[in-house]
Amino acid sequence: MLKAGIIGCGYISKKHLDTLLRIDRVELGAVSDVEQSRMQAACDYYKKHKKTDTTIRQHTNYIDLIQNKEIDIVVIAVISGLHSKIAKEALTAGKHVIIEKPLALSIKDSNEIISLSALKKKRVLVCHQLRFRPILSKIKEIIESGYLGRPCMGSISVRINRSEDYYEAAPWRGSWDQDGGMLINQGIHMVDLLIWLLGDVQSVYGDVASVHSHKETEDLAAGILHFTNQAKGVIEVNSITKPSNQGYSLSLFFEKGSITLGGKGFDQLEHCFIENREALVQELELLCANKDEHFIMYQHFINAVEDRVDVLRMDAAEGKKALEAIFALYQSSKIGLPVQLPLEHFSTASMSVSKRKEDSND
Ligand SMILES: NC(=O)c1ccc[n+]([C@@H]2O[C@H](COP(=O)([O-])OP(=O)(O)OC[C@H]3O[C@@H](n4cnc5c(N)ncnc54)[C@H](O)[C@@H]3O)[C@@H](O)[C@H]2O)c1
Repeated sequence: MLKAGIIGCGYISKKHLDTLLRIDRVELGAVSDVEQSRMQAACDYYKKHKKTDTTIRQHTNYIDLIQNKEIDIVVIAVISGLHSKIAKEALTAGKHVIIEKPLALSIKDSNEIISLSALKKKRVLVCHQLRFRPILSKIKEIIESGYLGRPCMGSISVRINRSEDYYEAAPWRGSWDQDGGMLINQGIHMVDLLIWLLGDVQSVYGDVASVHSHKETEDLAAGILHFTNQAKGVIEVNSITKPSNQGYSLSLFFEKGSITLGGKGFDQLEHCFIENREALVQELELLCANKDEHFIMYQHFINAVEDRVDVLRMDAAEGKKALEAIFALYQSSKIGLPVQLPLEHFSTASMSVSKRKEDSND
């Protein structure tokens, strides 16, 4: 039996607890949070639903969880600004790592995690769970089978509402050095899908704007992607949609078909045409309601940890892709020009107004 330890017992930790409760081959061995009550609540929840009285260690200092010899898998569910530091420490200690998105907030940290994972021969899963949603896995399979032909264009939209209360509830949200911006916090899943389904990105042109001043980071962003296969992509995201969340959408335009997914829960097949492949359209329609991606993602990861699959669908190198495209968009917004990939350097901290003022005074 593998043992997992969760670092960060806030909002998203519940998803991890619920998923761990359903996986036979892993059990929760330890938790860490700077707030004792959150650790206790996580342990109580797990024990109640697992119907067990097993000991779950509680560590106020996450280093103690990483050093705990019984733990095989470290789940990093803390604030985004700590992801890369903890991931590197966990890999160095010989643990497999499940890391919440984003992988990191800089190119340097992303590269170091990728290198350490290879050096230590330990698996890193980045939680871009939508890649594991059955309808999206099927679309990927259809694209790879060639039924849609050449990719031509794709677009994503994120139209959501994040109130002042949302940022006040957790002060790390909305800061460049600890959160990284709404494109990174809320937009990254859709950017990841666009890249996963269309291809690798060659260059990005974009701009961002801040409408509300109760936080440091952007409220909206627009971007144009050029893919290495000549396809084009459009990004349109905002967190100021009134009066409440409108939802998410992804449109794909290929030589032989086009597909649009949308809706508040991103679970509606709004349009689907695949030339001479009616049966595939029906198959996709049937998959719409299945949103069990977290469970499927964990199962895939455990199979990789146990060497039952060679290639992890969402490892650190894959997790860097959307991040790098978003970094390029941020960089483009600063210089007003398209930015070529790969990026040598970028850190979200460089977006901070005070930092930018300091830089311009240098
Ligand atoms: N995959 C997804 O769809 C998804 C959804 C929501 C959040 N997330 C990601 O999950 C992460 C956490 O988000 P959240 O909404 O749960 O935040 P949150 O603020 O609710 O929880 C963060 C927790 O980390 C704890 N923490 C802070 N510093 C710590 C430290 N040094 N050691 C141990 N614990 C510490 C806090 O006390 C808090 O309990 C973020 O990186 C976010 O991007 C991912």
